Amino acid sequence: MTFHKRLLDNANDLIWATDMEGRFTYINENIAEWGYDKGELIGQPLLNILNTKYVGKRYEETSNKGLKSIFEMEILDKRGKAHTVIVSSSPLQDDDGKIIGTMGIIRDVSETQKLEEKLKNEERFASLGRLATGIAHEIRNPLSSVKMNLDILRRRLTPQGEDDEHFKIAQQEVANLERIVTELIDYAKPTPFNLQREDMNKTVEDVMSTAKAACIEGGVTLSKRFARNMPLTLIDKGKMNQALLNIIINAIQASRPGGRVVVETQFVKTPSPMARISVSDYGTGIKPEDIKFVFDPFFTTKKSGAGLGLSIVKNIINNHNGTISVESEMDKGTTVRMEIPIR
Ligand SMILES: Nc1ncnc2c1ncn2[C@@H]1O[C@H](COP(=O)(O)OP(=O)(O)OP(=O)(O)O)[C@@H](O)[C@H]1O
Ligand SMILES: [Mg+2]
Repeated sequence: MTFHKRLLDNANDLIWATDMEGRFTYINENIAEWGYDKGELIGQPLLNILNTKYVGKRYEETSNKGLKSIFEMEILDKRGKAHTVIVSSSPLQDDDGKIIGTMGIIRDVSETQKLEEKLKNEERFASLGRLATGIAHEIRNPLSSVKMNLDILRRRLTPQGEDDEHFKIAQQEVANLERIVTELIDYAKPTPFNLQREDMNKTVEDVMSTAKAACIEGGVTLSKRFARNMPLTLIDKGKMNQALLNIIINAIQASRPGGRVVVETQFVKTPSPMARISVSDYGTGIKPEDIKFVFDPFFTTKKSGAGLGLSIVKNIINNHNGTISVESEMDKGTTVRMEIPIR
């Protein structure tokens, strides 16, 4: 293999050349990553693999007028999936300086873009979180004073009938506010993680018994399907408890009386060992347009929700290098699935 060929084939990016008609005359080995075979594309028009909607024009400029250009566009891989790419193309000249086609370099930036998007979101939420905890700390002390004074007054006055109802409602609402304030502070103040090898089934089982009261209150039955061969998994048990409880409580809240919530654990071996935990309910479901917001802090459709449950869950799962996804169908139900790598 010549040095130059190795240089081209070992490059990270896709490198190509076409003739004047825009047909491939050269593609480097990277094309395999796009699912294509080099042989099948040589002689084929480059435009076949481009999403020609908004690309054709620029491309022609390069071949006809000898312009160099750099632009962003989409390329379809063999399966038809579009990738955002940066294309840098320039005219290809022969020894006499005559233009005989174009050449270019294509870099897939879809992953980089996703990463940038993710970072931007994380920064936004981090500052939102700081603001919110600042406020939460300010609220916490006066709130506990309100709570204490309400308790004292109710005990002293021993109100009857409707008056007592008013006290009860006020106390319940204060308790609700306290829960939200605690969640807020928890959300923005991530305590250090303490990872240990734990029995995942046992962890899930513990959470299920914690959720029992909520189940009884909501008239929901909680059932389990556990993997028999689950290896010990490196987790922060306390945090994992908190994450699972949030998900199970959401599932119970979405269920109708008489509904069912199923918690399943699976040991996934490929492509890499993972503990998968799925929580399925047969409740209200999530509107398709809402699904992308459920992990955002403060997104809630509930009257007394803070909208922090799933954003806390997401942080916890991220800290375990895991992934979490939600599938939902309106009026059919929802499945939240987490995968934690087993190391
Ligand atoms: N199992 C589910 N079924 C239907 N909707 C759900 C389910 N889980 C989450 N959601 C939707 O996602 C939103 C966000 O959930 P999240 O747990 O973050 O906040 P919340 O439950 O509203 O409030 P909080 O958990 O802070 O008390 C919910 O308000 C609800 O609309
Ligand atoms: Mg919740």
